[in-house]
Amino acid sequence: MARRALVAATSNPGKLEEFRTLLADLPLRVVSLEGLDPVRFPEEGSDYAANALAKAQAVADQLGQWAVADDSGLEVSALGGAPGPLSARFGGAGLDDAGRVAHLLRTLEEQGAQDWSGRFVCVASLVRPGLDPLMVHGECPGRIVTPARGRAGFGYDPIFMPEGFDATMAELPPGEKDRISHRGRAFARLREALSIEMSV
Ligand code: IMP
Repeated sequence: MARRALVAATSNPGKLEEFRTLLADLPLRVVSLEGLDPVRFPEEGSDYAANALAKAQAVADQLGQWAVADDSGLEVSALGGAPGPLSARFGGAGLDDAGRVAHLLRTLEEQGAQDWSGRFVCVASLVRPGLDPLMVHGECPGRIVTPARGRAGFGYDPIFMPEGFDATMAELPPGEKDRISHRGRAFARLREALSIEMSV
C-alpha cells in the first residue's frame, strides 16, 4: 500500500533531515516542499505554537495534503530568553548559521554574562485537512559553550552542550541528538499521538 505523503513545511535542510528520521517508523512518506507548488507562508511572530501551526496550516490548505512543521529556538537565560522564536534571524537577516553563532558568543562575551545556561525549545504541529491539528512541545536544557565544536546537526548545535553531556549537540554520535533534543522529544509525542490514531 502506498504510504501517505506528509509534507515537511520547512526550507531548513537540517530540520527536514531530522523530521525524516524522527518519523521514519510511521507509515508516512515525508516529502520536502521542493518540486511542489509554491506555498505562501505567513510572517512569523514570536509565538512558537502560532508559528508552527501557521506553517503547517499554510501547506495543508494550499496543497491539500498532510503537513508537519516545527517552530523552534534557543533561549539563553542571560539574554532573558532571547533569541527564542527569533533564533533564525538573530543578528540580522544577512547572517548564516556560523554568523549567528559568532553573534551569540560575542553578545554573551560583551555582556560579561556569567550564566551561559539555556534551552532549546520546539513546538511541532501536524495538520491534516478536515481534522484537528496535533500540537506537541519539547525542550532540551543545557548551556552555551565556546569555542564552537563538532560538525553534525545545524544552527546553534556546535555551541550548545546538553545537560548531562560533555559534548556539544554537534559532537554527539548519530542518533543521540534525536533521542534527547527538543525536536526529538516533541516528535516522540507526535509519534505517540499519530500511532494511536493510525493504529501503528
Ligand atoms: P525557525 O523554527 O524556522 O524559526 O528557526 C529555528 C532556528 O532556531 C533555526 O534556524 C536555528 O537557528 C535554531 N534551532 C532550532 N532548532 C535547532 C537545533 O536543533 N539545533 C540548532 N539550532 C536550532
